[in-house]
Amino acid sequence: MDKFNDELHEIVLSEDGSFTAYSKEYDEHYHSTKDGATKESLLKHVHPAFKIKENQKEINILDICYGLGFNTLATLYYHKKHSLTSKLNIYSPELDATLISSLKDFSYPKEFDEFKHIIIELCEHGIYRDADFHIEIFIGDAREYVREFKNKFDIVYQDAFSPSSNPMLWTLQYFEDIKNAMKKDGVLTTYSIALAIRLALYKNDFNLYLNNEDGIRASTVASRIKLEEFALVDMQHKISCNPDAKPLMD
Ligand SMILES: C[S@@+](CC[C@H](N)C(=O)[O-])C[C@H]1O[C@@H](n2cnc3c(N)ncnc32)[C@H](O)[C@@H]1O
Repeated sequence: MDKFNDELHEIVLSEDGSFTAYSKEYDEHYHSTKDGATKESLLKHVHPAFKIKENQKEINILDICYGLGFNTLATLYYHKKHSLTSKLNIYSPELDATLISSLKDFSYPKEFDEFKHIIIELCEHGIYRDADFHIEIFIGDAREYVREFKNKFDIVYQDAFSPSSNPMLWTLQYFEDIKNAMKKDGVLTTYSIALAIRLALYKNDFNLYLNNEDGIRASTVASRIKLEEFALVDMQHKISCNPDAKPLMD
């Protein structure tokens, strides 16, 4: 833990008993401290995405951005817990190389205990492979990274810092690149329910859905094909009630 408490980060206990971090650089926590780090990853990202995708033989996932790695690790946890047979390929960009190399000292929740060897491999080499999982961390800018992929991803976890502190990962143009990197039937999950963010997705032909799980704040699921599993957000109605609302732009 000592190594992790550096000049840019502080360890913080979140509501579900798992630790997250506070970034002094972005003045923001890595997870909602109220919802809890583990709960947030599982209920806002992994559960809604796998509700749609769990029966696929091979699943390509873009995890924006790796941070402490909760979304990637919660995905592995879900896969093991539900004895899924799908092969998972997870690709995750992250700007902060120092953060990645310090994660072997992070106090992860007990749910991730069995992945200790994976955490160590990822923080030492940025890559892990076995029969079920292929995981790659890319050290660099997510904006450049996502442009390398076309028609690749089944799932995107959109989990950047908030639009106010990290706007470049929430713009209309960014989501156009994300759309191009996704398969037509891919699904995107995000904690943001802000109209400006939903507009940026909507203007890129995504349908917007509300993800409402018990005991956690609502979040958004986006897909270019129609989904039956979630309640559709009526964007035309929202736009007519907020005619001045605009998506963020580059
Ligand atoms: C909210 S945290 C991600 C939380 C992460 N999903 C987790 O479970 O811990 C946002 C992360 O984005 C990284 N970041 C910010 N701008 C970036 C960019 N342009 N490209 C790649 N990573 C970026 C930050 O360093 C930070 O680690």
